[in-house]
Amino acid sequence: MKKLFLLMFIMGLLVRPLLAGEGMWIPLLLQQLNEKEMRDMGMRISAEDIYSINRSSLKDAIVLFGGGCTAEIVSDKGLILTNHHCGFGEIQRHSSVEHDYLTNGFWAMSQADELSCPGLTTTMLMKMEEVTKAVLDKVTADMTEQQRNALIKENSSRIIEKATKESGYDAVVRSFYQGNQYYLLYTQTFKDVRLVGAPPSNIGKFGGDTDNWMWPRHTGDFSVFRIYVGKDNKPADFSTDNVPYKPASHIPVSLGGVGENDFTFVFGYPARTKQYLPSYGVSLITEVTNPPKITLRETRLEIFKRHSLNNPRVRIQYAAKDARIANGWKKMIGESKGIDRLNGIARKQLTEARFIDWAASDANKAYAGLLPAFEARYAQLIPIALAADYINEAGMGIELVGFAARFRPLVDESMKANADAQKMTILTESLRKQTEEYFKDYYEPIDREVAAALLKLYAENQPSAFRPAFLDDIQADCKGNYTAYVDKLFAQSVFTSKESVQKLLENVTMKTVKKITSDPAYKMYADLFGFYNQHIKQPYQQLNDGIDSLQRLYMQGLMAMQTDTRFYPDANFTLRVTYGKVEGYAPADGVYYKHFTTLDGIMEKENPDVYDYVVEDKLKNLYNTRDYGRYAASDGKMHVAFAASNHTTGGNSGSPVLNADGQMIGLNFDRCWEGTMSDLMYDPAMSRNIAVDIRYILFIMDKYAGARHLVDEMTLVN
Ligand code: ARG
Ligand code: ASP
Repeated sequence: MKKLFLLMFIMGLLVRPLLAGEGMWIPLLLQQLNEKEMRDMGMRISAEDIYSINRSSLKDAIVLFGGGCTAEIVSDKGLILTNHHCGFGEIQRHSSVEHDYLTNGFWAMSQADELSCPGLTTTMLMKMEEVTKAVLDKVTADMTEQQRNALIKENSSRIIEKATKESGYDAVVRSFYQGNQYYLLYTQTFKDVRLVGAPPSNIGKFGGDTDNWMWPRHTGDFSVFRIYVGKDNKPADFSTDNVPYKPASHIPVSLGGVGENDFTFVFGYPARTKQYLPSYGVSLITEVTNPPKITLRETRLEIFKRHSLNNPRVRIQYAAKDARIANGWKKMIGESKGIDRLNGIARKQLTEARFIDWAASDANKAYAGLLPAFEARYAQLIPIALAADYINEAGMGIELVGFAARFRPLVDESMKANADAQKMTILTESLRKQTEEYFKDYYEPIDREVAAALLKLYAENQPSAFRPAFLDDIQADCKGNYTAYVDKLFAQSVFTSKESVQKLLENVTMKTVKKITSDPAYKMYADLFGFYNQHIKQPYQQLNDGIDSLQRLYMQGLMAMQTDTRFYPDANFTLRVTYGKVEGYAPADGVYYKHFTTLDGIMEKENPDVYDYVVEDKLKNLYNTRDYGRYAASDGKMHVAFAASNHTTGGNSGSPVLNADGQMIGLNFDRCWEGTMSDLMYDPAMSRNIAVDIRYILFIMDKYAGARHLVDEMTLVN
């Protein structure tokens, strides 16, 4: 009976092909695929207002920020908003003991005070076109994946060359729907981007990793930059002569607030999703590779934490590493749990059963046999994928080994018959710098413990065919006493102290190279790498190629089978629109989470002894006097964050969350934990994106930081 119930439940979900909120849509196709639904849900602007190549539209105000985030232009002087965690690297780079912008925040009180950020770029989409036919020209079904890829590459370069020549823009070709469609994207990249403002970390990172991936949330996760251009308003390298960018459009900012069930959409750069994997692919991630990765990361995080607890210096040294490792760790746990709770694998299997039936008919026989082929390939992939993960997470998770690996280019160059002396000098110089930076954040007792723990987990959990030989040597040598082995390793390696490494780099000769290559830490790295090259790389590549071509056909088949369904392509770091409603959710039986949080909640969490929950007096004073000005919500409170059912993923951080009129109401920065499996399977009941309320951002700028001039630059609407 219970089983039947479950089946009926799942079937119920199946007949509703697309669920409210699900989907990351191509701006070019919005009018055709989504406009009607968006209007039905409450949108008052048109698809053309969002994306147009004939007139200015919201797309002219959205940029890819650096390599992995989104930002939006909010003034006619090129002012942009993104997350604090997206600007973190730049804020840190400009920080020193005298100017600790991470701790105290930073606010340029005039344009002259804005700080240049060499290397930081923002990229804007100018227009996009479908080019599937031209990209697939002369591609045939009987080609191998390599032949196919080579021809696609060749066709694409021709298209790109022509496009750049004719338009003057940069251009790229990207694959959509698993290689079934291709689009040509014209872009423009701005190379002079300056830091304008950032709140202190106890606002911008409030809640830290404790609250990360969770709702309710109270993080003021924003930072402010400005795009500069040449006098002709075109991208230019940094110059003091550059002027603020005059955009074709900028996003108006709403003071009107956020109501439950309000229509909302997010416009930005989602990085990667895998919505159309077969059950075997989902199982590989959530049941096979996530669990050991979670354990390996947990092991490291526990050691970091123990050493940081009473040692503020170590806590700072390991803050960034901890954040990075913890972010992925927590996401994986949420993802696996979420798929489990959704019965995600069973759901996929139901679709697959239908697919098999459908493909059994003569008309669809091109798709027959796909699923058994997936099954066979994924079964072969399991040990290979695990082996690759252990190399990355266990082997390279030892800082000593990761650091030794950086000496490889120097070793390689020196081994060449015609080693280039100048190149050697450049590599050596770079290693000297890296050595300084690396040891600034290195604490050997942590790494020793990590090494012993990871090596043990590696040796005990990988079958002998899938682990490098040195693990067997260690096991034989130390008889299970990994600490003893690690003591020996650290005693013999030159890579454990800054002084010994700098000395090694003083005068690089063949003797130096010999010393590097015979170092036990370098040898361990070389073993890992050699093992990867010999046993993993090729089968991994081959299996993935095979899976890619199956996936392409499967995607095609799914679309042919469900002709009444609108399919959206997986995220691929191109500009997308996702839409939903401002709404809370019920994370567990008997519990309902509201759609917004307030400054009251910051004061509830406040704890001067817990790093993640420190609140400064200045903010407390504003709270105590309720000095919120025009930024207060209609309930008189200062709203801090809100949740909505927009389908977002990594890369959407820093995206604007917009209302029915296309005005900015929030700044996207995260998702709730119960919904993080949305990269594999979206759940309308649980998947929520999290945004900072724009009014909190304005309040912090104006009332907290005294940077009213920035607020005045924006176009505020009520
Ligand atoms: N979870 C968010 C994302 O994936 C925020 C990460 C930064 N915050 C942190 N506490 N580590 O990027
Ligand atoms: N925090 C993510 C980002 O930085 C957003 C997400 O995964 O929802 O892009």
